[in-house]
Amino acid sequence: MKYQSNNFFIERIKAQNLAKRFGTPIYCYSYEKLKKNIIKFINNFKSFNPLVCFSVKANSNVNLLREIKKFNFGADVVSVGEMMKVLKAGFNPRKIVFSGVGKTSEELSYAINKNILLINIESEEELIEVEKIAKKKRKVVDIGIRLNPNTDAKTLKKISTGKKENKFGVTEKAFFNLLNYSKKSKYLNLKCLSVHIGSQITSYKPYEKTLGIIKKIIHKSNYKFQYIDLGGGMGITYDNEKKLNYKKYNNSIKNFLKKNKTKIIFEPGRSIIGDTGILISKVIYIKKTQNKDFIILDSGMNDLIRPALYGSKHKIIPLKRISNSSNKNYEFVGPICESTDKFLNIKKFQKLKKNDLIAICDVGAYGMSLSSNYNVRAKPIEILIKGSKVSIIKKRQRLNDII
Ligand code: LLP
Repeated sequence: MKYQSNNFFIERIKAQNLAKRFGTPIYCYSYEKLKKNIIKFINNFKSFNPLVCFSVKANSNVNLLREIKKFNFGADVVSVGEMMKVLKAGFNPRKIVFSGVGKTSEELSYAINKNILLINIESEEELIEVEKIAKKKRKVVDIGIRLNPNTDAKTLKKISTGKKENKFGVTEKAFFNLLNYSKKSKYLNLKCLSVHIGSQITSYKPYEKTLGIIKKIIHKSNYKFQYIDLGGGMGITYDNEKKLNYKKYNNSIKNFLKKNKTKIIFEPGRSIIGDTGILISKVIYIKKTQNKDFIILDSGMNDLIRPALYGSKHKIIPLKRISNSSNKNYEFVGPICESTDKFLNIKKFQKLKKNDLIAICDVGAYGMSLSSNYNVRAKPIEILIKGSKVSIIKKRQRLNDII
């Protein structure tokens, strides 16, 4: 994705032409970028050949899932809906892991019927529920237990999951109780210790610390886990965040594996899909006030909620660059009736006018998947570009359907 003589292209397609053809807003993804991210991820850890389960919550478009599956990926799901989507996309159930603190008995029952690889248990009550269902079905169910390692992932507070105040996983003490319970159960086969400490992590150190904790637990329990699921969380560069040092993370895991022979599972979402997508939008109005100029876009927080929810910064760029344009300071906002419906303040942006087109960048992860119909607004169309091929991978929602 780059400019060619001042016009922004996704692979061989001029972004402005997409807006003309499909209207705006558009979620547009690059297949080439997706493929590159996947191959890079696999290469980073190739010495121990992990099972990589794409975290579907980051992006659950069935057509994108189909593409991801072709690289032998598994899937990390958190609801029966996500499970149905990955099964529809053709994922092997033996490569599906099911996480989440509130799996209902219907969801557990569905997962057990599908013989998925692992149900990652997050509480004592859940373990008992799984055993109850398994007993009824006369089946032995493969499970993992998610440990809460009480590790600070040094990321945004709102997306940290591995500290003791977070609802996720179980404490070390509870972990041992669940482990002992599982060992005695005829219906539970404990195969995995899982963790996931947070998202948008840019330092390998919290991961290294977590590996140290896992090492101690394995030693103390003297239990042979077939899998260690290290979750996802690998950060990307949105603004000026530093890059995660994959080499160091890989080395820590390699060290860990020297004494602990086990298969590693990863559950990456953002690092696979985050920078593959842009949100193309149109300027509806420019509203000049005494203090600032608002650029009112035709996408709002219902299309992309990350800035409103976490204060995240997504770059905004013009689809057509004007080289000798005068520059202005702008506040980019959406049309939604909320003051948090604001994307970014930018200093010295090229002068914009009504109907100009822009792209909000790096929205492939937690963009469309977190979108809503708030203010009764239809969800955007999703498009995948492969070279010069343009495919609609999800139609624009029709207002009539939501009304
Ligand atoms: N595994 C588990 C158990 C998770 O809870 C998550 C994300 C992942 C894997 C994938 O994490 P990733 O590799 O994408 O960082 N909506 C927030 C992010 C929430 C992440 C929730 N869990 C955002 O837009 O930043």
